[in-house]
Formats: sequence, C-alpha cells, structure tokens
Amino acid sequence: CPPQHISDTLPSLTRSSMDRDTAKQAAAEAAAQLVRDGMCVGLGSGSTTAYALEFLGRRIQAEDLDVQGVPTSFATERRARTHGIPLTSLDDTPSLDLALDGADEVDDAFRLIKGAGGAHAREKVVAHQADRFVVLVDPTKEVSRLGTQFPVPVEVLPMAATPVMNALDAAGATPTLRTADAKDGPVVTDQGLWIIDARFPDGIENPDALNRRLCDRPGVLDHGLFLDMATDVLVGRPDESVDHR
Ligand code: 5RP
Repeated sequence: CPPQHISDTLPSLTRSSMDRDTAKQAAAEAAAQLVRDGMCVGLGSGSTTAYALEFLGRRIQAEDLDVQGVPTSFATERRARTHGIPLTSLDDTPSLDLALDGADEVDDAFRLIKGAGGAHAREKVVAHQADRFVVLVDPTKEVSRLGTQFPVPVEVLPMAATPVMNALDAAGATPTLRTADAKDGPVVTDQGLWIIDARFPDGIENPDALNRRLCDRPGVLDHGLFLDMATDVLVGRPDESVDHR
C-alpha cells in the first residue's frame, strides 16, 4: 500500500481550509520579505496579515532590523506588540514606505473589497499614506467582478444607519446591519461606529460610481471599496508558491 498522509484521511472541507491557510502563510511570508531596514510599514488587519506580523517580527529579531509599524486596528496593535514590532503613529510618521494588508476580494485591476474584519476605515487611511500598498491574498479572493462573494461594508454613525440603509437599497443593494450573532446588538468598530454590509446580488456594476455615491453620503465614515490603491498583489498558493502581480 502507498503511505497514507494524514491529509488524505481528512474531510475535504478541512483539507481546503488547510490549503487556504498554507496559501495565506505563503503570501504573508513573501510580504514580510519586502520589508527593508529603516522602513516604516503600515500593518493591516485580518488573519493573513496576522501571519505577516509573525514573519516580520521574526525577521526584526533575527536580523536586528530598525523597522516601525503603524497598526490599523486595536487587534493588530496587540499582535504587533506580541511579535516585538516597534510601533509608531501617523502623527509621528505620516509617510510610510510600505503598507501590508489582506483583502476579501481582488479583481484583475487590483480593485479590492476589504472590511470583513471591520477595520477598513483605518486600513484605507494607512494604505493611502504608503508609497507602496501590498495586498496579500489566497486564491479564493480572486474575482472577475467585485461584490460577487462579499458585501461592501459601510461604516456609519449609528443615528445615520436607517437613512444609509435606505439609500443602499435604492442603489440596488441588500443592506444588513452587522451583528455578532442573532441575539447580539450591532458590531461596534474601533471608532465606536456601526457597519452596514451591502450585498449586490449580481456583483457591482460600476465600482467608481458606487464609491462616489458612498463618499457623498452624510453619516458614512468610509466603506470597503479600495479603488486605485493597491500597487502589488501577492497571491499565495496551496503549494506554497506565490504569484507576485
Ligand atoms: C479587515 C480586512 C481584512 O484584511 C480582510 O477581511 C481579509 O482578512 P483575512 O486575511 O482574515 O481573510 O479588510 O478589515
């Protein structure tokens, strides 16, 4: 009998989540390798970036690098400290050499949907301040049309939630207020605001028009469409290779 690997005996769902995890780690390791001594780096949020923080922390210790990071969420701030990454802020370091972050969807034009973790407002500010914005994904995030897999998260003042939901409805979306689970109240962001997830049944026909519409809407802090921002996309694969686009 040929030797049986543990993964051969696992249900396919478990195998595919292991594959995704391997792909995320491959992208994260390649991203951490882009950091050079003396750089100030934007640190994104989410599980793929969490791996990048771990790899970066190891490099900083092993190579005695002088690197500082600007975190995009309280969770990332805590993780960066755990991995020994020195932190700064945009007050002290408004220009960043690089920002590293994950995404929920990326299309062929490097346009993104972000914010499944609810950190998109700070992530957008930090990415905007960086000379280079590198996005780390596994292959499930690649789409030919934005909005086909994930909703667009829209962060709102709580008192504006209903008018914004009505406006999204009129724009062809199905809006829902993000809650932790059915019993809980709204998810509250690091800014103390709420998130409305706007699902587009056939994807987003015109991301630029939707971007303008959302930015013009009173009560909206920001949303998860990142257009004309990403400079590089690193797609990790389950065989640990990385496609640098
Ligand atoms: C958080 C984000 C994340 O970067 C995005 O949701 C991807 O997360 P993950 O790497 O866990 O799939 O935008 O606001």
